[in-house]
Amino acid sequence: MALPDGFRWGGALAANQVEGAWKEGGRGPAVSDVATYKPHTDPTEYAAHHVVTKAGVEKAAADQDDTYYPKRRGIDFYHRYPEDLALFAEMGFTTLRVSISWTRLFPTGEETEPNEEGVAHYEAMFREMRRLGIEPLVTLSHYDPPLALALKHNGWVERRTIELFERFAAVCFARFGAYVKSWITFNEIDGILRHPFTSGAIIPDTIPQDELEQACYTALHHQFVAGASVTRMLRDMVPDARMGCMLTMLTTYPNTCHPDDVAATQLKERMLYLCTDVQAGGAYPRLALRALERRGITIPFRDGDRELLAEHTADFISFSYYMSMTESVRPDAERTPGNTVLGVKNPFLPSSEWGWQIDPVGLRISLISLYDRYGKPLFIVENGLGMRDELTADGHVHDPYRIDYFRAHFEQLIQAVDEGVDLLGYVSWAPIDLVSASTSQMSKRYGFVYVDQDDMGGGTLRRVRKDSFTWYKKVIASNGADLS
Ligand code: BG6
Repeated sequence: MALPDGFRWGGALAANQVEGAWKEGGRGPAVSDVATYKPHTDPTEYAAHHVVTKAGVEKAAADQDDTYYPKRRGIDFYHRYPEDLALFAEMGFTTLRVSISWTRLFPTGEETEPNEEGVAHYEAMFREMRRLGIEPLVTLSHYDPPLALALKHNGWVERRTIELFERFAAVCFARFGAYVKSWITFNEIDGILRHPFTSGAIIPDTIPQDELEQACYTALHHQFVAGASVTRMLRDMVPDARMGCMLTMLTTYPNTCHPDDVAATQLKERMLYLCTDVQAGGAYPRLALRALERRGITIPFRDGDRELLAEHTADFISFSYYMSMTESVRPDAERTPGNTVLGVKNPFLPSSEWGWQIDPVGLRISLISLYDRYGKPLFIVENGLGMRDELTADGHVHDPYRIDYFRAHFEQLIQAVDEGVDLLGYVSWAPIDLVSASTSQMSKRYGFVYVDQDDMGGGTLRRVRKDSFTWYKKVIASNGADLS
């Protein structure tokens, strides 16, 4: 079993979790700047910790201190990217997934001309990546829409946001298209239904609660239209580039073989695939539309939307995969947190400290399900293990658990390719420790490179190669053949 030549290996980052420098270079505030530090491992606290209110957002926006807002400082990638890229090149990366901060280019999202300092920053970074032989894979929007759009306009609920996004994308393609040939429209586009503020700049309590679900689907539709529109634009402006869509692959099994559990799982899966059905398949599927209609939700189609969605589908499907869960109709079924969800616990799987259930076989199942359904090339653009790592007195970080996690997932990935899946590449989340999206913790570490920074921003920011660094380097050099 071997991976094809040219299989792309690397890692994935997001601007809002690494860059820091939140007030430098003419950058405007993003929704990520008001995300507070909220460590949690207790499933019962999960939902309460993630409530976003208008009062909370305004209070955070007025607070200029960054202590409790770790995404404001990230890991200082904005200044240290040359050093970090060199470490990634040392591991043999052929690809690095990054995102572009919308508010570095358009500080409120509403300007008509871009901030040239922001453009110059990314130009320099992409040039350096190319010099090192690392191909950029770039997400246009990764959990950092302009805060101004949330405070003034209800974000993506307003159709006008499509135009603002098109303006941003046009600058990205015009100025970075020479370096960047692989793009992703929205990180985990389905996330807007679970965390509308982070993905959609929607402040939930500014909308009547009985209209919130409708508002989220309206915003999602606007993102679909925007995604198709910028895909068309990319094809005109950078004809040799490819556009991907991205899904949070929340692989779900029936908790038991009781037909009610199986039916509930089937419905869950149908709604999960709704986004890729539209973005890769080109249309809302009839059954999903019917399920929404029965909940009183209508999709706000305008003339031309259906044609646009049908004509400008994604070239490849990318997805994140961390964990799986189960579905049960029993209200008392024991639950555990996963990636921005609470799922029913699977008795056969171990969990991380954060409750995420570790399931390498689920990666193979996901690859096969997605390829079977769409027949389009796939790209794993996030997968990894968040753990507390320890910097030992002799300056090392021994992380055998991370090596075990990746090895088990790579074995399954290779098997899926052997079974016939067309997989373009694999980029881990994340190659270097960064600020967690959900909890804003530094102590939930994912990297092959340790960053000396604690949750409150203390530390030297020194980078240290973990044991997994050497191991991943060997995996890449052997194109997955040597997992020992
Ligand atoms: C993905 C996001 O859902 O999960 C990333 O795209 C995020 O931004 C990753 O960091 C891991 O989640 P967390 O909450 O552990 O950072």
